[in-house]
Amino acid sequence: LATIEVDISKVIVGTCMSIKWRGKPLFIKSRTNAEIELEAKTPLSSLRDPQTEADRTKKKEWLVVIGICTHLGCVPIANSGDWAGGFYCPCHGSHFDNLGRARKGPAPTNLEIPPYKFLNDKLLLVG
Ligand code: FES
Repeated sequence: LATIEVDISKVIVGTCMSIKWRGKPLFIKSRTNAEIELEAKTPLSSLRDPQTEADRTKKKEWLVVIGICTHLGCVPIANSGDWAGGFYCPCHGSHFDNLGRARKGPAPTNLEIPPYKFLNDKLLLVG
């Protein structure tokens, strides 16, 4: 299916839901207040692919990204790596922060964001 509705009401704060969308892993990560505050302090000048929270999220409590490493396409591990609430790709050691931004290792760009919108507080439309 090109477009899917995802019920996010059962996602526990701080965890990351993983589903398939168009044959790709899709990560829906609930960001904690601490994770949000941490990345609010990150200077854009320290990023290799500079994007703000507003560029990366529609609601700051939720990150929706394609779970494919932008280096060579492995699937990163959620809530892992050197950045709290971020992602780690074990293939060649790329680290992404909790906004899915490339921070360390060979990944050249941030994790890709699919088209999506919130239908209400519990339902996400992806695609
Ligand atoms: Fe992820 Fe190489 S594919 S670091």
